[in-house]
Amino acid sequence: MEPRRCDTRPLRAPQSAQRGGGRRGEAAVTGRALVIEPVLRRASLAGARPPAAKLDEAIGLARAIDLEVEQSGIVMLNALRPASYLGKGKVEEISGLVKSYDAGIVVMDCALSPVQQRNLEKAWNAKVVDRTGLILEIFGRRARTREGALQVEHAHLTYQKSRLVRSWTHLERQRGGFGFLGGPGETQLEADRRMIDERLAKIENELGGVKRTRALHRESRRRVPYPIVALVGYTNAGKSTLFNALTNAEAVAKDLLFATLDPAMRAVVLPHGRKAVFSDTVGFISDLPTALIAAFRATLEEVVAADVILHVRDVSHSEAESQAADVANVLAELGIGRDDPRLIEFWNKADLLDRGERDMRRAQVHRRKDCVLGSALKGEGLDVLLATLEEHLAAKLETYEVTLAAAEGRGLAWLHENGEVLSRQSRPDGTSVMTVRLAPDRAAQAVSRFGARLRAVDSLSRAAE
Ligand code: GTP
Repeated sequence: MEPRRCDTRPLRAPQSAQRGGGRRGEAAVTGRALVIEPVLRRASLAGARPPAAKLDEAIGLARAIDLEVEQSGIVMLNALRPASYLGKGKVEEISGLVKSYDAGIVVMDCALSPVQQRNLEKAWNAKVVDRTGLILEIFGRRARTREGALQVEHAHLTYQKSRLVRSWTHLERQRGGFGFLGGPGETQLEADRRMIDERLAKIENELGGVKRTRALHRESRRRVPYPIVALVGYTNAGKSTLFNALTNAEAVAKDLLFATLDPAMRAVVLPHGRKAVFSDTVGFISDLPTALIAAFRATLEEVVAADVILHVRDVSHSEAESQAADVANVLAELGIGRDDPRLIEFWNKADLLDRGERDMRRAQVHRRKDCVLGSALKGEGLDVLLATLEEHLAAKLETYEVTLAAAEGRGLAWLHENGEVLSRQSRPDGTSVMTVRLAPDRAAQAVSRFGARLRAVDSLSRAAE
């Protein structure tokens, strides 16, 4: 394959940017940027994701942080240069583009070493952001919770610190005796590093507090038998849209308990009356830096502990399959395998499929029990999704009958609070027989509470009734 020069044609708006655009409205543009997709020739031959799709995504990500993408292009490389990543000729060519477009930022969609970043910044006289930097920026802006914001800031500072330590030697000049950051003779580098360390310590402290609150919330959730449905998916797949569509519906449980919860968590009443808590998580992305996975571990713990993991997929995207594989890889890092019985897929954005694609997807979904096709935006397939979730959850529950005395109001309330009441039969003697589904831990509590008045109902004999 011949090397492609940096593309100088005007860009069409990439798919991802078009779809993501409406989310935050018209935000201010923060800089003129070039987006470069460096591709190692042997990697592209090895069947990696098509460079054009990767570039499209990088442009979408740059626009998502309000950069004004002036120009973009794919740069084919035979080998990586330790000092500048790109060869000398390419560095010069891009330098010319930086000048002619008056760009202040160059996004390099790859992982740059601190030295490479520094050298490119010098050569181009522009800020250089690599993929990790870009993702950190996006996650920082999208963090909806205090914890999320702290986690991103922590990852950001750790990333910056590594850049300071190893490459920013230009900062190693004397402070000039002001001494407000350190004693005499302290270098700028030491002062910067110290400031970062102090901020990191503060964040860690605050995160400790948030974690304790989260643990308390988890504990209070455990006291009510609401299962957790965690939404995961590639960035822009439509998780938040689905989350809002499901939880803004009239069916939202106005339960005070959840008023204090994380804003990314809401309770919903499923079609047969069972409640579930939906939890929106951070978006996944290909080449998610390992440090970020570590930073988000606490948020992702929600996923690990969830009763159902709802994987939202944009099936209208040309890279739908590789995006799904990327999500599966991140989940695998969290110990959730592809065949984990808790996984359910929502194939979103069906409204964007043409008739042939839709028929094909419908046939695929038809063959699987754990998959629903629909559109979060148009509200399509949401009923089927909720019913599938409820079925999935019900599979884990056992059915019991409990006989209650006429005035046993507290027992009745306990059953309603801790289980899913299926029916209530009143007898002439004033007692009632409650049929209720209970999770295993609640069933154990029910045994000690109701004793012999509780009996398990064999699901086969129930089916025969
Ligand atoms: P991250 O926060 O990056 O993880 O994104 P997300 O997965 O939460 O995606 P989000 O809900 O923000 O949706 C991304 C874009 O896709 C938005 O512009 C939505 O309006 C759009 N979108 C979501 N669902 C649908 C759908 O069913 N059909 C269409 N046409 N667009 C959709």
